[in-house]
Amino acid sequence: MSGWSPHGQKPGSSRGLFVTFEGIEGSGKTTQSKLLAEALAARNMPVVLIREPGATPMGETVRALLLDPKVAICPKAETLLFLAARAQNVAERIRPALEEGTTVICDRFADSTLAYQGYARCGDISTIRVLNDYSTGGLWPDLTILLDLDPGTGLSRQQNRNRMEDEPLSFHERVRFGYLHEARSEPERFAVLDAGEKAEELHRRILGLVLARLAEPRARS
Ligand SMILES: Nc1ncnc2c1ncn2[C@@H]1O[C@H](COP(=O)(O)OP(=O)(O)OP(=O)(O)O)[C@@H](O)[C@H]1O
Ligand SMILES: [Mg+2]
Repeated sequence: MSGWSPHGQKPGSSRGLFVTFEGIEGSGKTTQSKLLAEALAARNMPVVLIREPGATPMGETVRALLLDPKVAICPKAETLLFLAARAQNVAERIRPALEEGTTVICDRFADSTLAYQGYARCGDISTIRVLNDYSTGGLWPDLTILLDLDPGTGLSRQQNRNRMEDEPLSFHERVRFGYLHEARSEPERFAVLDAGEKAEELHRRILGLVLARLAEPRARS
């Protein structure tokens, strides 16, 4: 395969791997995305860790707005704010990193919009799919780790509450259902893991999955 060398690979010789973490509040996305980034960096592999919404000056401003319980935001405005932050993130951080051969790890991405603003807020899922594609320019993860957990356990793990965490349990049940539904429709992209396992064991599994994907050739996009 031209341009592909698993060992001693030069930056830019192959597109980077794009890995996203998804799951309900408290499922361990931030914990696991950090552990994964640290493990790859310890192997001298180029990696960037990005959180959504955020990662750019524009995105961090939008994040503060979205997480502020004092600011009234209607469901459509909420969806569009997430998408605007994502469009900036893809253009400014994600695509450039992937093009130079860096592994990009995102703590939440487009599936969050489908699960929260689509399934849980009962938004128009087909419109959100179109808007997701518009905001990412058609960029989808190579691998999405879905940390599946019952919402009661997830919320009990949380210390700082925000706009989403103040929603009733039924909202988080719909988020979980939405994620699992999406995962079933794209089994090649999703890996669904039991987030009730110990963090160290989950990390070991996730690292194994990612190292296996890194060893596969990837076409430049
Ligand atoms: N596998 C695990 N078992 C038990 N507790 C865990 C596990 N993973 C993470 N935790 C703890 O649960 C809490 C939430 O974890 P974390 O912040 O990683 O979740 P998150 O999915 O990023 O949540 P959010 O959606 O709110 O950002 C933290 O206190 C963390 O230490
Ligand atoms: Mg988090």
